[in-house]
Amino acid sequence: MRIAVAKGDGIGPEIMDAVLKIFDANKVPLEYEFVDMGKWVFDKGFSNGMTPEAKQAIERLGLLFKGPMETPKGKGVKSINVTARKTWNTYANKRVFQSLHGVDTVFSKAGIPIDITIVRENIEDTYGGIEHMLTHDVALSRRFITRPGSLQVIRYAFEIARQKHARRITCGHKSNIMKLTDGLFLDCFYEVAKEYPDLKSDDVIVDDLCMKLVVRPDTFDVVVLTNLQGDIVSDLCAGLVGGLGFAPSANIGDHISIFEAVHGTAPDIAGKNIANPTALLLSGISMLQHVGLTENAAIIENALLFTLESGVHTGDFGDKTKASVNTTQFAEAIIGNFGKSPELNPKPLVPNKPGTPAPLKLEKNAMMVSKEIGEEKIVGVDLFIASDEQPDMIAKKCQRHAGVKFKLVSISNRGTQVWPTGSVYTNLVNQYNVRFEAIDEDPLNQQDIVGLYVSLSGNFHICSSELLLMWGDKRAYSLAQGQ
Ligand code: NAI
Repeated sequence: MRIAVAKGDGIGPEIMDAVLKIFDANKVPLEYEFVDMGKWVFDKGFSNGMTPEAKQAIERLGLLFKGPMETPKGKGVKSINVTARKTWNTYANKRVFQSLHGVDTVFSKAGIPIDITIVRENIEDTYGGIEHMLTHDVALSRRFITRPGSLQVIRYAFEIARQKHARRITCGHKSNIMKLTDGLFLDCFYEVAKEYPDLKSDDVIVDDLCMKLVVRPDTFDVVVLTNLQGDIVSDLCAGLVGGLGFAPSANIGDHISIFEAVHGTAPDIAGKNIANPTALLLSGISMLQHVGLTENAAIIENALLFTLESGVHTGDFGDKTKASVNTTQFAEAIIGNFGKSPELNPKPLVPNKPGTPAPLKLEKNAMMVSKEIGEEKIVGVDLFIASDEQPDMIAKKCQRHAGVKFKLVSISNRGTQVWPTGSVYTNLVNQYNVRFEAIDEDPLNQQDIVGLYVSLSGNFHICSSELLLMWGDKRAYSLAQGQ
């Protein structure tokens, strides 16, 4: 079985060499095709941080094992890590956070075991990086949450929960505020939950989730979240089990998957052979499990856990009164412990059953549509305008353009209604949302909207617009605060 390997930048090559040395010593039946990705590839002029040959190899092989990579700052290029995850639709980011014997934390000292799997949506949310300056003072980021994208990642999380014999699967969200986006994610969660009646499913608002994770992390098992919230909650969980040095990550897609550590290139310690390879090794172990090399995975993981239990540690963790070892020595200690089992939670030796990757050869992009649209009606439009005038003045001007088809129903600023009612204590910025709706609920068409847009553009600089839709009797847009 051949896989693509990118060593990465900073400490990447050191920790990747250590992990591959462990794999080789265990005769892991994998062949490596080394591909060119990372900072030095950006520096050579490849704007996405990878050579065309690297892209082809990864698409042919279906599996990428990667070290951390640096994205050059200030050159306007997008993160290579995010580009890779998005380009190949690795829609689920799985991160496993477990208490490890030998890695002291407040919880391990208190005898509270942690074994939390975070599944984070990996493509959507604000990570599209679709951002615009609407005025010099106002920046806008678009947040996409889609039904097919949510269903994909949530279904994966339920599968993981079932494999793990989880007691509980929890959806973290903020649907009390983001009723349409997080509300959609939460609806999808309970839709999928119906297919898994054997699992206890529940949901927690993300701020409450953070508090509960810090107070009683042992009550959580599998947690699924949208992208940004999942990113933050994962790092919180990394802190619970001893820091980024122990946080592995798997980016799972239907055709291509990427395994990497959560941490970055650690430029402050790069080149010194002192980095902790555990997170990358745990990611590699998860990759072995993914491709069915379960026996290799168990032997290596048992040896790692035994090594940690015995007090061997790199400089970033462990008993500071005992001398630390370097990256190479740490790898050698693990190799020396093959065949040994940790006192706590030894992994079962399940025979290898290799055979996953070989990605499907795709002829065209997959279109994901999960729900047929029922009756849809345009009932109005939100026009986002730049202006530093007061709401009453804006209303007066807007009403002149409303014509016979529209009425001005509301003006809001940063999401808070300031007209027809509002408060002078609401601070304003120079960008408003003016909402027009159809008079007498007459249906509108796109030409009506364009007509209004053209007319209003005589008075205002229009930054962007959104249609107001009704699906049957369901409103497909939010109300302004106070509307
Ligand atoms: P970082 O994770 O590289 O470092 C944060 C701190 O943790 C540093 O003090 C570092 O020495 C320490 N650290 C990290 N990994 C370690 C390890 N294995 N052993 C011992 N100590 C370790 O985060 P930072 O400094 O914010 O980012 C540095 C670069 O990494 C940036 O260019 C960033 O874009 C990139 N990055 C790449 C990621 C990826 O490839 N998936 C993820 C996160 C950051």
